[in-house]
Amino acid sequence: MRAPAIVILTGAGISAESGLGTFRDAGGLWTRVPLDEVATPEAYATDPEFVLEFYNDRRQGCVEAVPNPAHHALARLQQARPGEVLIVTQNVDDLHERAGSPPDALIHMHGELAGALCGACGHRWRAPEEMAVGEPCPACQGPHGRPDVVWFGEIPYHMERIMDLLAEADLFAAIGTSGQVYPAAAFVQEARAAGAHTVELNLATSDVSRDFDEQHLGPASEVVPAWVEQLLSS
Ligand code: OAD
Repeated sequence: MRAPAIVILTGAGISAESGLGTFRDAGGLWTRVPLDEVATPEAYATDPEFVLEFYNDRRQGCVEAVPNPAHHALARLQQARPGEVLIVTQNVDDLHERAGSPPDALIHMHGELAGALCGACGHRWRAPEEMAVGEPCPACQGPHGRPDVVWFGEIPYHMERIMDLLAEADLFAAIGTSGQVYPAAAFVQEARAAGAHTVELNLATSDVSRDFDEQHLGPASEVVPAWVEQLLSS
């Protein structure tokens, strides 16, 4: 099968209008909760209850949120061009899949709130609504269940596949991401070096804006559907 011609990276900004807060904007998650108290393996080792409570709250917030016109527009693009459009999301919510993005055309590089991971044997299963300390693994029975999210200091998922696909993309777009977290922030440079046209859609200029050939500034619910219409009619 041919690699997708279009690779789209999404970040917290695409889910902002669904009511899920971003991390670094005014009032963002990391301005309220220190990142190193909830999003590192060390934090989990020190205070697992606090960390699980943080993710239980976010999981609940995700259940209450609904996809917005930006998620729907991307799903429409994927459905109109089967096999041609891959979404790589840094988001741990499930709004892309709930908008209709095909599971085989969506990569959660930072994991998913809906998932549980055994810290001992690596088995994955669907997380309960509320995870408790010592959550038993259904495979090895060990009390090592944790949220299946990538913490700082851990390696994002599916990196080899992502880098291969970036090298073959004709078009790379980044939506609603600040360009502050690597390796995702470097995807634009990878894609551009391999010859892709690069487009940024964001509320404001990001840390990596200069690396894009084209920029659409505005709320995702407006700029993403307009960009998708433009692509579909070209
Ligand atoms: P950030 O919070 O760093 O950036 C959010 C971006 O979305 C900013 O550039 C905003 O300008 C933009 N934005 C806000 N509202 C928007 C809207 N309505 N429409 C369009 N854009 C909007 O979030 P990320 O870049 O996703 O990782 O953060 C990357 C990673 O850092 C996350 O995946 C998470 C976090 O720490 C881990 O936890 C491992």
